[in-house]
Amino acid sequence: MDMTSGNLEMGTYQAAARLHCDLITEGFLTTLGVPFLTLLYRSIDQDSDSAFLVEGVDGEVVGFVTGTSGMGRIYSRLLLQPHRLLFALKGCLFSPLKIYGILEILMFSIIKKNSMQLPSEELLSIVVRRDFQGNGFAEKLFGSLCAHFASKGAQSFKIIVGNDLDRAHAFYKKMGCIPCIELQVHRGNNSIVYIKHLKASD
Ligand SMILES: CC(C)(COP(=O)(O)OP(=O)(O)OC[C@H]1O[C@@H](n2cnc3c(N)ncnc32)[C@H](O)[C@@H]1OP(=O)(O)O)[C@@H](O)C(=O)NCCC(=O)NCCS
Repeated sequence: MDMTSGNLEMGTYQAAARLHCDLITEGFLTTLGVPFLTLLYRSIDQDSDSAFLVEGVDGEVVGFVTGTSGMGRIYSRLLLQPHRLLFALKGCLFSPLKIYGILEILMFSIIKKNSMQLPSEELLSIVVRRDFQGNGFAEKLFGSLCAHFASKGAQSFKIIVGNDLDRAHAFYKKMGCIPCIELQVHRGNNSIVYIKHLKASD
């Protein structure tokens, strides 16, 4: 199963959201919960400048990758469905820490990221179910995202990776990504920014 449509079933977004929460346990987005991530992945899939690419086995999602050429349109899509968004975030609305974390992401996306002269294209997330890791699914997903960005005329893209994600760092280096700078999206949590340069063959 290779699902690349811009209008998948809600269950597919939910499965991706669950994988995200199960496997990126230290990430801030995980603390916003499966309902919010489900809505986020749907918005990414429905945006024509973004990609949500899925690998499945026997009808089950075993991995996915997402990428975009700008978060602005994805945020707009989320804000255009305020009822769903508020419902998805209902558990977070009274948590000052979570509200602060959301503001940090918005500040970073709108102000800091644009002043850093990094590519606007970005791999947002890649996750492969633990029992399918080490089997080439991640490489296939990464290659498909490279092809997506190349088809849009991009020459490179960035990936922001939390310091503690050891296996992800090993994977990106294996894929030819170059560590570029260290930064903090959330106070106290360092991330490395990788750049992947696309080749004509991508
Ligand atoms: C990142 C991820 C998609 C890569 O998929 P994968 O199937 O594990 O990838 P691969 O097995 O091809 O590559 C991982 C590399 O890490 C290395 N590795 C394996 N276990 C490791 C560990 N515990 N610590 C560090 N490196 C490790 C392997 O040596 C492998 O390289 P090799 O094939 O040359 O031996 C997957 O590990 C994953 O879903 N991780 C959790 C989610 C995540 O962190 N996503 C990234 C968010 S930015």
